[in-house]
Amino acid sequence: MIEIRVPATSANMGPGFDCLGIALNLYNHFIIEEIEEGLIIEGCDKEFANDNNLIYTSMQKCFERVGYKYKGIKIKIEHDIPVSRGLGSSAACILGGIIGANEIAGGVLNRDEILELATEIEGHPDNVAPALLGGMIVSLQEDNKVYHSRIEIAKGLKFCALIPDFKLSTEESRAILPKKIPYKDGVFNVGRVSLMISGLINGQFDLIHLACKDRLHQKYRGSLIEDYDAITKYCESVNSLGVFLSGAGPTIMVILKEGNDSFHNDIVRYLSKLKRNWMVKELNIDFDGAIVKHINK
Ligand code: HSE
Repeated sequence: MIEIRVPATSANMGPGFDCLGIALNLYNHFIIEEIEEGLIIEGCDKEFANDNNLIYTSMQKCFERVGYKYKGIKIKIEHDIPVSRGLGSSAACILGGIIGANEIAGGVLNRDEILELATEIEGHPDNVAPALLGGMIVSLQEDNKVYHSRIEIAKGLKFCALIPDFKLSTEESRAILPKKIPYKDGVFNVGRVSLMISGLINGQFDLIHLACKDRLHQKYRGSLIEDYDAITKYCESVNSLGVFLSGAGPTIMVILKEGNDSFHNDIVRYLSKLKRNWMVKELNIDFDGAIVKHINK
């Protein structure tokens, strides 16, 4: 049996649309084994326990790629990453499936080949890259190859995820984006994404609030999220370093100084007055990425 642990991820990080992402210490576990026949999926809603399951279809793609003929598959899922909330749950499922299948097939694919297949399935690399590699990663795809580089963030930060009780699919959240953007909006983002990377590496945390600004996706997607503007404004007005939409949303991610003890109570109090329920979860950076363990039955 193979156990794969994959971290949650927060993609885009404001201006880094489709290229920045960070792994956080919230995990899905996948326990996968080859069985004599059939497909057994445990630990998810009945509607996902069939051959359309993303973990299983990702396994099939990996088996096809490496030319392995499997007999049957059993998948057990233990998940803490909320689904369709902008925290990389699909990326975790895709990687869990590919890594599990690759181990069953004898470890044919190397790490970069796993990343390329995962990106092919997901469509963009900014969740799968940090989920696989850990830490904060800049990644992009060119000619079917994925290029990635780790950003070594200065110590002293933590994250706070504000997770609403409603889902937002990446498809819907991408469909609302414009086909074209003004040249000045491109320039706006180039400056902020550069500032984000440089400020995080150099520990210039006072620059982060400016570096979280973006004109490629956040303002369009904000309209799909109840109270988005009010919540981000509130977070900016209290003791936080920066606020951005996590991935395609609807989770809002707040960056805090490590020792900040006041933000949590302030935001819980604020969110409790709103119509929807918001869960507040403090998170740290995961530096390990996806981890594989072989377990004896
Ligand atoms: N970069 C992607 C997006 C992340 O913003 O659509 C979503 O998974």
